[in-house]
Amino acid sequence: MTRLDRYAVFGHPIKHSKSPRIHRLFAEQTGQTLEYTTQDVPAEQFQSAVNSFFAGGGKGLNCTVPLKELAWNCADRKTERAQLSKAVNTLALQADGSLLGDNTDGIGLVTDLIANHAIVLSGSRLLILGAGGASRGIIAPILEQSPHTLVIANRTVDKAVKLAAEFDNDNSIAGCGFEALKNRQFDLILNATSASLSGQLPPLPTGLLAKNGVCYDLAYGNEPTAFVRWGQENHALKSLDGLGMLVEQAAEAFFIWRGVRPKTRPVIELLNSERKP
Ligand code: ATR
Repeated sequence: MTRLDRYAVFGHPIKHSKSPRIHRLFAEQTGQTLEYTTQDVPAEQFQSAVNSFFAGGGKGLNCTVPLKELAWNCADRKTERAQLSKAVNTLALQADGSLLGDNTDGIGLVTDLIANHAIVLSGSRLLILGAGGASRGIIAPILEQSPHTLVIANRTVDKAVKLAAEFDNDNSIAGCGFEALKNRQFDLILNATSASLSGQLPPLPTGLLAKNGVCYDLAYGNEPTAFVRWGQENHALKSLDGLGMLVEQAAEAFFIWRGVRPKTRPVIELLNSERKP
């Protein structure tokens, strides 16, 4: 009997991951037969878990927190966007037995913003909160959309300044602390800090969001996150969380593995309907 093609997501913790559900829905929709499971993998066991997964016939892996930097290190070859983000969320077994590493987070975010929510990035004033791995993964795809400005604000100011300098080629990107945001306005504010997950918010001045501005939290939950609530309180035109980004990054991974592009909208709608009371 031939085994189904095997895929999995590694993370720690991983129990509540929506990825298996999303990939099974994609497979059903596109008529692909595959298996997609979760595996709880602490960082120190990552390399051996990857080795046994692929030695056992695995075809592709997603890697999530806290394993994306380790996955970057273990890929034999990386796409340009993965190179820039220094993190890999998708590993794909190649015909020659090597592992290709990609990062579909940034393109997933940009697709959700533009295709699903009709948000204009080109010529807009954009602010990213946070200068960790999540921010790094989205900067290059956002810059490709030619925003008017991109500011990265972080609690540890030095990290924001250094991160901005890595991507700067025409002075349209700058790093700063939260204090420096006073008297500035942005059309789109993206929260890429890990603060939201614990219900916390960076200190944001009032008036930061422009009229008809949009807020987007890369995190998501069954309830609105602290940052989504901040957006609502500050009269955002839309205040969104990262569920759409999650589905879009998964669709990119599915395409890399299977060569078929699933429709994302029905999956986003289904997952959204399930978290509404
Ligand atoms: P991730 O991979 O999720 O980005 P990370 O690399 O550890 O995780 O980065 C977490 C980010 O959230 C950092 O920008 C961090 O700010 P510092 O660099 O100053 O640590 C930010 N962060 C976490 N908790 C925060 C809080 N309570 N207020 C503001 N920023 C916070």
